[in-house]
Amino acid sequence: MARASNQYVCQDCGAAHSRWVGKCTACEAWNSLVEEAGAAAFTPPGTPNSARKGNVIELESLAGSTEEMPRMIARMPELDRVTGGGFVPGSAILIGGEPGIGKSTLLLQVASALAETGRTAMYFSGEEATAQIRLRAQRLGLEKAPVAIAAETNLGNILATLRKGKAPDLVIIDSVQTLWSDGLDSAPGTVSQLRATTQSLIRFAKSKGSAILLVGHVTKDGQIAGPKVIEHMVDTVLYFEGDRGHPFRILRSIKNRFGPTDEIGVFEMAEKGLVEVENPSELFLGDRDNPSPGAAVFAGIEGTRPILVEIQALVAPSSLGTPRRAVIGWEPNRLSMLLAVLEARAGLALGAHDVYLNVAGGLKITEPAADLAAAAALVSSFSGCALPSDRVYFGEISLSGAIRASAHMVSRLKEAQKLGFKSAVIPNRGEYENDAVTLATERIGELKPFVVKCAGCAEGKD
Ligand code: TYD
Ligand code: MG
Repeated sequence: MARASNQYVCQDCGAAHSRWVGKCTACEAWNSLVEEAGAAAFTPPGTPNSARKGNVIELESLAGSTEEMPRMIARMPELDRVTGGGFVPGSAILIGGEPGIGKSTLLLQVASALAETGRTAMYFSGEEATAQIRLRAQRLGLEKAPVAIAAETNLGNILATLRKGKAPDLVIIDSVQTLWSDGLDSAPGTVSQLRATTQSLIRFAKSKGSAILLVGHVTKDGQIAGPKVIEHMVDTVLYFEGDRGHPFRILRSIKNRFGPTDEIGVFEMAEKGLVEVENPSELFLGDRDNPSPGAAVFAGIEGTRPILVEIQALVAPSSLGTPRRAVIGWEPNRLSMLLAVLEARAGLALGAHDVYLNVAGGLKITEPAADLAAAAALVSSFSGCALPSDRVYFGEISLSGAIRASAHMVSRLKEAQKLGFKSAVIPNRGEYENDAVTLATERIGELKPFVVKCAGCAEGKD
């Protein structure tokens, strides 16, 4: 046995160690090392086992001409936008998401949609039997789509099948964690298996021009298991996320070599699979007819698309020594910062209050421009005064209490206008074309006067 070449690989970051240690020295994760066969023991399928000398490569100039690759458009607008206008032939796409969120459902729908446009698609499942996939297809009404399916986890068998005849346009592997190659001693799902099998599939995709979709499970802290090792190998990383309690699912692009990142596609999990949601703002708004204290509408941007979402806050006197702060759909650190700024710069005494903040509909907001809407919701709950239900808010709040300019002002205001909002509270700075915007805008530069006005119920009465 090639015992001497074995190594201990951290399953979180992929760092290799020569001895077992309790804590990975690279990422400081505890108990994450697993013994795996050394890289030297493995020859990936398709590589000539060579002690050959290298050849001299001919270098090219940057100014050469290139053809734009024809993309594979699935005719699912929400998906096509996230991929940057369709799948690029020869590319590898990783789709991560929690178990049960709908990855397999989405991919079966994508395969069928592409097959309907005349492309060839193969679906390899390592998690379900073919009968289960067929049942799902029947439930989705897709059983007539010309998609070839197989239940297989052995990489060698999958590659041999793919190489037989003309390579398919789309290959789906559900999931990478179940794949294994017999050239390796390690168990399926370990870093060296993931790295080697993904590499072989990517090599196949590049040489034959197939687009490969890989499903990756995420761990409980939201990372694709063995994340670093596959995320940097693939061209595109998409996350499929959502709250189990809500039907909405969001496909988010994290990395894309062929298109924009931070773009989102919104779907709804319905009886017959995932339905595209064309107008997500309507979904993420609460009941707007009866305004209640603590609710403010944020005019946000996700990728290139404006989205209106309701931010809800509850501020209540605390009976605990250390008041509770809980937040869903937003950064907890951002909330702590905002509370500190409200206290220090606007004189709002929140120190003895429990604070809860929730973003409606299960959406996760990362934009700093949400600060002002969150502040408005907090002040409104604190003072018990409802904000006008036809008003939107956006603007970043700095530590000094100043309101900073936000990008894409026109898109945000136009979306609010489209959905019937009448006014907007926006940062002082930043220009926008006036003729595009008909709703009343109130410009503010400092947090304090805004808070005083909100807290004094003046806003609600005018
Ligand atoms: P699935 O695609 O199996 O999730 P993943 O592959 O990410 O683990 O989705 C499973 C969930 O979706 C399951 O809880 C049932 C639900 N679902 C529907 O609500 N409607 C449907 O038409 C389908 C096929 C699934
Ligand atoms: Mg699945």
